[in-house]
Amino acid sequence: MAKALHLSVLLFFGTILLSICQSEQLQSSQAQTLLRIQGLLNFPAVLSSWNNSTDFCNSEPSSSLTVVCYEETITQLHIIGEKVAPLLPRNFSIDSFVTTLVKLPNLKVLTLVSLGLWGKLPDKIARFSSLEILNISSNFLYGSMPQELSSLTNLQTLILDNNMFAGRLPDWLSSLSALTVLSLKRNLFNGSLPNSLSSLENLRVLAFSHNHFYGAVPDFRRLTNLQVLDLDDNAFGPQFPQLGNKLVTLALSKNRFRSGIPSEVRSFYQLQRLDISSNTFVGPFPPSLLSLPSINYLNISGNKFTGMLFENLSCNAELEFVDLSSNLLTGSLPSCLMSDSGDRVILYSKNCLAAQDQSQHPLSFCHNEALAVGILPPIKKQKQVSKTTLALAVVGGIIGGVALIGIILLVIRRKKAKRTIENPPTRLIAENASSGYTSKLLSDARYITQTMKLGALGLPAYRTFSLDEIEEATNNFDTGSFIGEGSNGQMYRGRLKDGSLVAIRCVKMKKSHSTQNFMHHIELISKLRHRHLVSALGHCFECYLDDSSVSRIFLVFEFVPNGTLQSRISDGHSAQSVSWTQRISAVIGIAKGVQFLHTGIVPGVYSNNLKITDILLDQNLVAKISSYNLPLVSEHMGKVGQVISSGGSRNTNVNKSLKNEEKTDIYNFGVILLEIIVGRKLKSRNEVDVRKDQLQASIVADDAARRSMVDPAVQKTCLDQSIKTMMEICVRCLNKDPAVRPSIEDILWNLQFAAQVQDAWRGDSQSSDGSPISPSQSRRQSYH
Ligand SMILES: *[C@@H]1O[C@H](CO)[C@@H](O)[C@H](O)[C@H]1NC(C)=O
Ligand SMILES: *[C@@H]1O[C@H](CO)[C@@H](O)[C@H](O)[C@H]1NC(C)=O
Ligand SMILES: *[C@@H]1O[C@H](CO)[C@@H](O)[C@H](O)[C@H]1NC(C)=O
Ligand SMILES: *[C@@H]1O[C@H](CO)[C@@H](O)[C@H](O)[C@H]1NC(C)=O
Ligand SMILES: *[C@@H]1O[C@H](CO)[C@@H](O)[C@H](O)[C@H]1NC(C)=O
Ligand SMILES: *[C@@H]1O[C@H](CO)[C@@H](O)[C@H](O)[C@H]1NC(C)=O
Ligand SMILES: *[C@@H]1O[C@H](CO)[C@@H](O)[C@H](O)[C@H]1NC(C)=O
Repeated sequence: MAKALHLSVLLFFGTILLSICQSEQLQSSQAQTLLRIQGLLNFPAVLSSWNNSTDFCNSEPSSSLTVVCYEETITQLHIIGEKVAPLLPRNFSIDSFVTTLVKLPNLKVLTLVSLGLWGKLPDKIARFSSLEILNISSNFLYGSMPQELSSLTNLQTLILDNNMFAGRLPDWLSSLSALTVLSLKRNLFNGSLPNSLSSLENLRVLAFSHNHFYGAVPDFRRLTNLQVLDLDDNAFGPQFPQLGNKLVTLALSKNRFRSGIPSEVRSFYQLQRLDISSNTFVGPFPPSLLSLPSINYLNISGNKFTGMLFENLSCNAELEFVDLSSNLLTGSLPSCLMSDSGDRVILYSKNCLAAQDQSQHPLSFCHNEALAVGILPPIKKQKQVSKTTLALAVVGGIIGGVALIGIILLVIRRKKAKRTIENPPTRLIAENASSGYTSKLLSDARYITQTMKLGALGLPAYRTFSLDEIEEATNNFDTGSFIGEGSNGQMYRGRLKDGSLVAIRCVKMKKSHSTQNFMHHIELISKLRHRHLVSALGHCFECYLDDSSVSRIFLVFEFVPNGTLQSRISDGHSAQSVSWTQRISAVIGIAKGVQFLHTGIVPGVYSNNLKITDILLDQNLVAKISSYNLPLVSEHMGKVGQVISSGGSRNTNVNKSLKNEEKTDIYNFGVILLEIIVGRKLKSRNEVDVRKDQLQASIVADDAARRSMVDPAVQKTCLDQSIKTMMEICVRCLNKDPAVRPSIEDILWNLQFAAQVQDAWRGDSQSSDGSPISPSQSRRQSYH
């Protein structure tokens, strides 16, 4: 009997065990989907534990990664990436990502936070018909909310914070009748709120802060469950919103509210936090706010509240933060606020109170100001910065650069044979000849033609100059044309016969160098032409008569008229300072120049010793790198020659050191980026390190902290998301470990993103197509 019972109990538990095991076994197709998601997200650190043998349903949940299963399918998925997630690379497709994701059709809860997701939220998201909670905050999603979302009728919580969603809030939101939390903080939404919002009677939390909403707030008195209303930092107003009395948190700061606080507020018995700071409120301050039954945070600072305070006013004992500063209050501070118990913060400076310890205005100030109230401050119009347009110099005669090299060689040979008697150095001038040596030279260096074509835009063909031309252009090297002397030789400004300005670099050669030694280099120089390099227009050899060795080489460059980039960041005086948008386009230009040096030409040109003082701006503020590693004048001269002749057979050692040289350029680029952001030249490596650390700390802090790092001259005109992207890529460039520094393509992608975000935010009327950021556009630009 006992035995039989024992057996049946065993059987019973066995069955239960079995059924538990079964229920925990995930369908293999869903496991595959998760692994695919891991790949599409570019294998983020948070998913590093996932592989083919992971038992997803039974793995330990963590604060950043949780999978919950029910009957063989996944019902909850939480993935939270690193706090500052960089953008996913260009090849990421939000469309394929969501297509994969919807293969988990039973998801009820989906959290995808800080994963670098970018793109327009695809309509397919609507296939999650069971979805109840969706949190996709802190990504780079943009565009409007897809209407298809309206079919997610089970949705209770929708959180899109910290993205770049834009446009008006749609009317169809009211069809999400189960909605209790709607949080759209820190996006680019605009327009006024649709009245249909007030029919969502289940709403408990409405958070719209840090957007560009404006106008009246709909009548929310019907939303009897509403506890949190966060409208900070928009342009709502002027009427105080109409609200139900169950509110716990009411945040209206940094808006355009003006009309006085209605008496109903006194009935908000649950109100704990009231922030109406930085608006344009006028009229008397109702002291009863201090004694609301639940209040513990009250901030009315930065308004024009008037009225007299008395010592005998009563206030809630729970009050911990009270900020009355910058108003027009008179009288004396209530004594109930005076007790300095615990961590209480009581601020009241810049009023006209009878108090000594926090600075106050004289009484007359408050009276005068109160009389003047009624004049709205003028609304500043945002300045439109015209887009830089490409307008470069006239194209001269079209002669292939390569053919010219042949000509030069030939002429040199002829001259060598001729040798006339003259005082050395002799003038050696190449004008016309056949192209006998072309094919040999061509085979020595291979070039990527596509990039070449893009780069050479607008410049006259490379050619040789005669010494006469050089002398005439510089007025016989007159001191008036002397620009300066660097390690690479003297520089002169010159004007050619056709009127165009040039910069001429004069490089002295050691006697041992024969002309032939330079041909590789000259050819390379003739190919280093790009919109973002100060490009060579031609050269002129000056040779010794006795043995034809080269005494001097004159390199003729395009003249870039608008000074250095350094002179255009404020460095204390902001008169000439370029805007944030112009700064981003300047660094994009530099990055494109570097990309060309590294990959646009074979072999690449590395170790360019990039410095902000060597970045010049042309008349359209297009940035040009002026002092790249010119093979002719660099110390690496021999090396570049060797690499050319060894062609494709580079061994891994060479590759490794090239990789390092490439990453040295990336570091120096990072320094320029840093200088652009903080708005001044950094003098030492140590200073760079200190600033970089500050930047890194501010990235994970708040908007204000980041903004405080930015050059004051542009601080007010840049969008946080744009600053953040720039800072983040800057810090990565400055990484101590060269291997971890990003590729130049990665940099470009991030910079262009920062530019487009900024552009979209400014609502640039000049951008030709309506959509602020279309993926195709981003891709197109990335390949320039
Ligand atoms: C995207 O490119 C990266 C390399 O940049 C590569 O590792 C990754 O597999 C690619 N992802 C997709 C989905 O193609
Ligand atoms: C899968 O990952 C676990 C830990 O994350 C590891 O112990 C295991 O060796 C991995 N298996 C394979 C096949 O890579
Ligand atoms: C995981 O399994 C798939 C097929 O089931 C296979 O193609 C893939 O190579 C496996 N990956 C690893 C890392 O074992
Ligand atoms: C969304 O998820 C993130 C990460 O878990 C969390 O920090 C954030 O509070 C969530 N948002 C809301 C409104 O709950
Ligand atoms: C709202 O934002 C959209 C998209 O950014 C823009 O096209 C539109 O002009 C903006 N409307 C207003 C009134 O600012
Ligand atoms: C009150 O609001 C202002 C601006 O809105 C803010 O600077 C200040 O720190 C707030 N005061 C407190 C005590 O939080
Ligand atoms: C507070 O004091 C003022 C003048 O000091 C007086 O007029 C007022 O009646 C007092 N109020 C209360 C509630 O005692």
